[in-house]
Order: sequence, then C-alpha cells, then structure tokens
Amino acid sequence: MDASHAEQDLVNVLFTEAQITARLQEMADEIAADYEGKDLLLVGILRGAVMVMADLSRALPRHVEMDWIAISSYGSGTKSSGVVRLIKDLDTDISNRHVLVVDEIIDTGLTLSWLVNSLGSRNAASVEIATLLRKPDALTMPVEPKYVGWDIPNEFVVGYGLDYREKYRNLRDIATLSPHVYS
Ligand code: PRP
Repeated sequence: MDASHAEQDLVNVLFTEAQITARLQEMADEIAADYEGKDLLLVGILRGAVMVMADLSRALPRHVEMDWIAISSYGSGTKSSGVVRLIKDLDTDISNRHVLVVDEIIDTGLTLSWLVNSLGSRNAASVEIATLLRKPDALTMPVEPKYVGWDIPNEFVVGYGLDYREKYRNLRDIATLSPHVYS
C-alpha cells in the first residue's frame, strides 16, 4: 500500500518509494566499490530489514550471499524495552567472511551495538553496518554504521519494513505516524 491508503494515520511522508530506491542504489554503488574483490555476506535483521535487504541486494551489481538473524529489542509499543533477545541465529559460519549487517533503522543503537559485539567474537574478516535510517537524537549506545541512507528526527516512523504493532510494514513509503494512533 502507499500513503494514501493510510492517510488518516500518518502526519507526513518522509521518503517516497522513488526516493528510497534512488538512495539504496547510491548506497549499493558505494558498497560495491568498497568490497570489490572481496566476498560479501549480507546479514539482515528480521523482520524490519526485509524490504531494505531485498532492494539493496538487488541493487548490487555483484554476487552476494544473504543470511538472517532475528533479534528483538522492542515490546509491542513505541519504546524500546532495553532488553535484547536473540530469537534466530545465523545459519552461516562467518569466520573469515566480510559481513555487512543490513537494517532499516538505528534508533537507540541497542540492537546493533549488541549484534556487532556478538558477531565480533566469531572471527569475521570484517563486520560493518548498513542502515537506511538513523535517529542521531535517540542514540544511547555506540554504533558506527559505515553506510547510512538518511538521518531523521526522533519521531515514530513507519513503512518500508518499519511497523507499529506489526502494521504499516507493507507501506511503500516511509512516513511519520500520527500520535493519535499510539497514544
Ligand atoms: C527495530 C529495527 C531495529 C531496531 C532499532 O527492530 O528493525 O532492528 O528496532 O532499534 P534500536 O536501535 O533502539 O535497537 P524491532 O526490534 O522493532 O523488530 P522488527 O525488526 O521485527 O520490527
């Protein structure tokens, strides 16, 4: 669906489908140049990163492998619970592999700082992060993504994989959720 199908729930569209596609292509070109001559394993974080993973991987003009990890740091609301739980581990042995973790948003940084620490003990050749969105004002943990699509204000955003209570993930655009939906 697009923003017109959820108009009353949204304050404004931050990024349209076309803007997202264009930005992911720029990121893919940068990634392809940086990893030239190296193998590359993309690790997507379920479930929110599904859209970014699908589009970023297809924008890459080269072979990549993909694996998935499931971590939860949120309850069902709009605030982080502050607790990270590993729900599904990788199926791939990442020792000596170049790993690029793909996520759609860095909010407090809790999820990715935990994950990078965890992957850091598995003897990967390298571990870097690509995120479509980052909220600099919400960051409480040290996370340094190598690739960032956009920095955004500390507002609750949905769409393109981002949910509120499992809804809006299939919205093509990224939009700010109206407070009346969650208050
Ligand atoms: C979201 C998002 C990030 C994380 C960012 O995942 O996909 O992984 O939160 O927040 P943080 O920087 O504060 O840790 P969530 O746990 O909501 O699961 P989901 O991907 O299934 O939506």
